[in-house]
Amino acid sequence: MARDKTLIVGNWKMNLNMHEASLYVHQLAKLVKNRRDVEVVLAPTALTLQSLSLQVNYRQFKLAAQNFYWRDQGAYTGEISASQLRGVVQYALVGHSERRHVFHESDKDIRAKVQAAIRNQICPILCVGETASERADGETLDVIHDQLIGGLANVTSEEVEQIVIAYEPVWAISSGDGNGHNALPSDVKKVVAIIRNQIKHLYGSVAANNIRVLYGASVRADDAAAYLAIEGIDGLLVGGVSLDAYGFNEIVKKAHKGSSLAKNTEGGI
Ligand code: PGA
Repeated sequence: MARDKTLIVGNWKMNLNMHEASLYVHQLAKLVKNRRDVEVVLAPTALTLQSLSLQVNYRQFKLAAQNFYWRDQGAYTGEISASQLRGVVQYALVGHSERRHVFHESDKDIRAKVQAAIRNQICPILCVGETASERADGETLDVIHDQLIGGLANVTSEEVEQIVIAYEPVWAISSGDGNGHNALPSDVKKVVAIIRNQIKHLYGSVAANNIRVLYGASVRADDAAAYLAIEGIDGLLVGGVSLDAYGFNEIVKKAHKGSSLAKNTEGGI
């Protein structure tokens, strides 16, 4: 997977019913221009994935699952597998903080999901990030370290470059209430360097330079460019604002301008 495109992922969380989702994509499709240097990924609810897969032009939008179960099939009432998502989505979020903290997903679950996604040719977006109390206790580095080790434990050096890492400080995520606190780009830069250093330690410099790293948490159109300009950042994971077609398109436009400056060719390690 190359780092030549800026990746903008919209995480709709548990919002929009089928009708609203279809209308929204229709509206977004009129706004978002196809750009060679930007890849736009939409992560709607599982319910709408199938119908949106028929509606979207894959050259304009790719689709992502917000969650799935790691086994391929069986007696797992209420679950959807990566093998069922195969061909419908190109990406899947794994270990989003709401999955970790609201639904108590463990690193063991997350590691199995990373494997299941890779096995089914879906690119996992592995989310990592510290909570407010972990940050206050100075544990950010340890948390990121443990989440990376936990999520990547069974990933080979051939597979690792298919993975996208998303750094999402939990204390900065708006969680739907619009009250996220913004992380400083200088702080994000330090964590991105930590992530790439750890990938280097585990898989070597080529993987560390090639793996894509996103930032996400309360990103808005007016600060998107500042986050995109951070050394080593390849794109953004956008929650709340991804439900506003105009705001989201503004972020996509910033990604195009940002890529054209070609500031992200070095990995920051
Ligand atoms: P937010 O969500 O942009 O609303 O903070 C980001 C996320 O949870 O992925």
